[in-house]
Amino acid sequence: MHAVRFHEHGGADVLTVDDAETPDVEPGQVLVDVAAIGVNPVDTYFREGAYPVPHLPFVPGSDLAGTVVVVGDGVERFEAGDRVYGTGLGNGMSGTYAEEVAAPADFLAHVPDGVSFEDAAALALVGTTAWQAFVHHAGVEPAETVLVHGGSGGVGHVAVQLAETMGARVLATASEEFHGDVRALGADEAFDYRRDDLADAVTAAGAPDVILDTHMDRYLQFNADVAATGGRIVGIGNDTGEGGFSNIGVTKGKELRYQFMTMYNTPEKDAVLTRLASLLERGDVEPVVHETYALEDAAEAQRAVLEDSFLGKLVLTT
Ligand SMILES: NC(=O)c1ccc[n+]([C@@H]2O[C@H](COP(=O)([O-])OP(=O)(O)OC[C@H]3O[C@@H](n4cnc5c(N)ncnc54)[C@H](OP(=O)(O)O)[C@@H]3O)[C@@H](O)[C@H]2O)c1
Repeated sequence: MHAVRFHEHGGADVLTVDDAETPDVEPGQVLVDVAAIGVNPVDTYFREGAYPVPHLPFVPGSDLAGTVVVVGDGVERFEAGDRVYGTGLGNGMSGTYAEEVAAPADFLAHVPDGVSFEDAAALALVGTTAWQAFVHHAGVEPAETVLVHGGSGGVGHVAVQLAETMGARVLATASEEFHGDVRALGADEAFDYRRDDLADAVTAAGAPDVILDTHMDRYLQFNADVAATGGRIVGIGNDTGEGGFSNIGVTKGKELRYQFMTMYNTPEKDAVLTRLASLLERGDVEPVVHETYALEDAAEAQRAVLEDSFLGKLVLTT
């Protein structure tokens, strides 16, 4: 079977398409005949060596969707032929950029009839992230105001939909060309993140009770300045290792809570994925697949996910 691997750390050109052995299926795992794979910025962090990998060569990738072909000992939720999707691989264990993947059953859920493997793979990591942020950490309540930084991004465009589905009023920042799309996904207002008066514009629209921050290195102070009293700020992403406050005092007066997270730590991923699958089936939270690439073109997809501006997700197909 084919697997995309890196044998050393580096740029996208270190990815090679290799002939690899079908992985052994350990107890608690299932072997998945992979049909689609979500591409995420984090896949590139492992490739570059910014995040550790347990061995080289290494298969990157967190998201997958496909068909169960072998069921390991102790697995009762799945049988051969089931359509499944999942996330959380590629961190401390081999990843998903391969035609066959041995995946922990706890990281998987069923794909409903009528839902494509591409959509399921596109939703897995970003949906789990948005769920962990809004449901577990922030406890978003109906009629609260939620601000999503980067509302056109992989996480952002799903977070906008989840917040809207939870009954929130949704504000989102995005490049201007995507404002119509972001509104169509459920944002009540969209703001160009490049505008100089962004804080004033967001404040005029209504102070957010919850903020999902995909660029924490830029917005820690901004979030404090615009948040409502009692605001919950969930930080998930940063482009540099630097960031901070110029006036931290405002955080105290507003009783703000900052929560930083990684979706890899999400407990009971299978339960979260099962709920997300229901929302996907009902059309309440649907990923936008901007482009699909053949598995062999994974290097181009990894370049594009970091460098190009688009709405939604990139997906590999086998
Ligand atoms: N902690 C976690 O569990 C977790 C999970 C998923 C993702 N992440 C991280 O979260 C970040 C976003 O992930 P993603 O998959 O959504 O990436 P993505 O698809 O590349 O989306 C990034 C979004 O941010 C927008 N953006 C760029 N510069 C911005 C700025 N200064 N202010 C506001 N928005 C800006 C982009 O818009 P334009 O393209 O129009 O510029 C794009 O819509 C990444 O750092 C990723 O590693 C963390």
